[in-house]
This record gives sequence, structure tokens and C-alpha cells, in this order.
Amino acid sequence: MTVANVYKQGWTLDEVHWDWFDPSRVDPAMLAAVKAAALVEYNAPDYVAYLKRVFHGASPETIGAIEQWGAEESQHGRALGRYAEMADPTFKLEDAFARFRKGYSPPQFSSVGDASIRGSRRGEMIARCVVESGTSSYYSAMRDACEEPLLREIAGRIAADEYRHYKLFYNTLHAQPDPDLGFWKKLWIAVSRVRESDDDELAYAYYCANVKPEEEAARPYDRKTYSRLSSANGASIYSRKHIQKLMQMVMKAIGANPHGWLAELAGSLVWRRLQKNGAAA
Ligand SMILES: [Fe+2]
Ligand SMILES: [Fe+2]
Repeated sequence: MTVANVYKQGWTLDEVHWDWFDPSRVDPAMLAAVKAAALVEYNAPDYVAYLKRVFHGASPETIGAIEQWGAEESQHGRALGRYAEMADPTFKLEDAFARFRKGYSPPQFSSVGDASIRGSRRGEMIARCVVESGTSSYYSAMRDACEEPLLREIAGRIAADEYRHYKLFYNTLHAQPDPDLGFWKKLWIAVSRVRESDDDELAYAYYCANVKPEEEAARPYDRKTYSRLSSANGASIYSRKHIQKLMQMVMKAIGANPHGWLAELAGSLVWRRLQKNGAAA
């Protein structure tokens, strides 16, 4: 049976072909990536609460779309977590997630105001488009690099959702009544959001997902080390075409030509950096 389907919005865990699982084709590096991604996705409710504060007073449709988005992100976490538990019965999504939550809480989640840390709703939507560009290209890369049939299906379903999330935030960006931001401001927001990928979120998720509690004393968390390992793990999954697609989506979000020189340059720089991180690790 083929998994080359176009997956529609609103799928449930019951629709996933769990019986396609083939343990002999599980790749350890891919599994490490799945475990880390599960924790980040499962943390969606905090992002929903934050985004609802930023869109306080917006139309019920917008608030409803944010809630739907968050429910889909949480489901990504559950799907990846269940897969990881099948592939490695010593992995427990809830336990790993509890450790991650304990050690990771960015400042915007504990703030009570309704201001976006990006300065405006438009800025917030550009940052969201950057994230969804990243996740959409990442799960597409995972789907294409993976030989295990069940994970191919799960990654394919998630990649399709992430692309729809990008479109949701792109349309929300353009529906804002306030004037467009200047190009340099938009570029700055996009670059800042990409740079935040170096913060604790991905590195600590990778750590909590892949270092067992009983190994913590011997392998304590260090941001630089686990950021490098997490990034190298990503480098082993991505191919050049997915990085270019990622850059095209980011360029479109900031109003630049998706096929112009900036997209080409940014794609080459990110690709080179990924390769370097992969080699260094
Ligand atoms: Fe997701
Ligand atoms: Fe998403």
C-alpha cells in the first residue's frame, strides 16, 4: 500500500495506520528526532494561550482558528510520542514531557499582558510563518528521508498540517488592518525568530527526549552540546531542496521574491551552516 497520499485537515490518531510499523526499519537518528519533536509539539497549549492573548478581542473566527491550530499541534505531539513509544518501549511521552516542562518556560508564556514579543500582531504572524515554514519543511524532509512506513505516514500527515498552518498565519498577517511593516523590520523579525532556534527549546527537548533520567548525573544538560547534537540530528534529515523550500516560504512571508537572490543566498547560508554543524558533531 502506498503512503503517497494528500492528507486532509482534521485527521485523527485512529486514522493512522499503526499496523504498518516495521521495527526492522527504524533508524536511531530518526527516532531521536521524533522523540525531541514530540516534546516541542506537545507543548502547544502554552503557545495557544500566548497567541490568544496577542489576539485578545479579535473575531471569534480568528480565536477559533488559533484553538484549532493548537489542537493540531498537540496531536502532532501525541502521534510522534506514540510512535516513539512503539519504537522504544523505554520512552514515555508523558514522563519526558514533564521533565521538559520543568526545565523550559520562555518568558512570553508567563507574561500576562496581551502584547506580542514581536511588537505587533503582524510581527507575531511573520514569526509564526517562519516557524511553520520550518516545521513544514522539516517533516517533509523526515517523510522523504525515512524508510519506515508508519513514520513516513505520520510525517506526511504532519507536514501537510504545517503547510496549512503557514497559510493560516500568512492570511491572518494580510488580514490585519494596520499598515504593513517595513521590509527591514520584517527581515529582522524573521532572522530573530530563526536565531531563537539556537535557544533552549530544541536543545533541551532533544536532551529530555534522548537522555534518560537515570543518565542525567553522568550526562548533565549543556545548551551548547545539545544544541549541536540537535542541529546535527536535523542536518542528517534535511536535504538541500527542503532548505530551499523553507527559504522560499520565509521570503514570501516577509514580502521578498521567493525565487530571488535573497532566497538563494539565505538557502545556501543555512545549508552550509547545517552541514558544518553536522560535521562538527
Ligand atoms: Fe506541528
Ligand atoms: Fe504547525
